[in-house]
Amino acid sequence: MPSLHIDDDIVLKILEPEDADSLFALIDGNRSYLHQWLPWVDTNKILEDSKLFILSSKEQHEKKFGFQCGIWFRGILTGIIGFHRIDWMNRSVEIGYWLSEIFQGHGIMTKACHTLVDYAFYEYQLNRVQIRCATGNKKSNAIIERLGFIKEGTSRQAEFLYDHYVDLFVYGMTADEWKARYGSQSNNINWTN
Ligand SMILES: CC(C)(COP(=O)(O)OP(=O)(O)OC[C@H]1O[C@@H](n2cnc3c(N)ncnc32)[C@H](O)[C@@H]1OP(=O)(O)O)[C@@H](O)C(=O)NCCC(=O)NCCS
Repeated sequence: MPSLHIDDDIVLKILEPEDADSLFALIDGNRSYLHQWLPWVDTNKILEDSKLFILSSKEQHEKKFGFQCGIWFRGILTGIIGFHRIDWMNRSVEIGYWLSEIFQGHGIMTKACHTLVDYAFYEYQLNRVQIRCATGNKKSNAIIERLGFIKEGTSRQAEFLYDHYVDLFVYGMTADEWKARYGSQSNNINWTN
């Protein structure tokens, strides 16, 4: 399956049906930790739910609305990063991600996110990437700020997490800003099979 090699340790691969077992095991093993910031954990209860997620991701990719990737660190599936449905009319997209608890702290997600933003601007030629993140989610805010996104505002009570609402910071990055910061060409967005 197509893969993007970020460095010697980290590979992004488009999710395929054969990844469903590993994906479900990863979610199941991180349930209470993921529950803190992600709204879909309780609706992904059985293996079939992960299979359906992968099938809908494949459809998203085939219809050219973006893709979802597994993040493999030294051969182990450690998390997911992907584009929400691309808004082609406005040349804009939003990115979402999560990492297994024990693989935090190595910069894996910062690198994966950098790669997807590269992909959005250099391959898809989009103009804007947005990431929304709960105001209290310090680790995720740190990734987005490390990459240089601008905090544009706060959407109040914008996400319902099981029994309470959280406010979301809205972060944005434009193609011009990204290229001014990181250069007009990217080296690390070549897929291999
Ligand atoms: C959000 C989440 C992905 C953050 O994970 P993370 O491990 O902190 O992020 P990274 O993989 O980029 O690692 C950054 C950490 O590695 C360190 N690091 C080491 N090498 C690094 C490198 N080369 N580049 C960047 N950071 C590096 C950083 O200093 C930072 O450590 P710190 O937390 O002690 O400051 C993770 O906590 C998560 O999945 N949480 C649950 C789901 C979630 O919140 N999703 C996001 C919703 S908006």
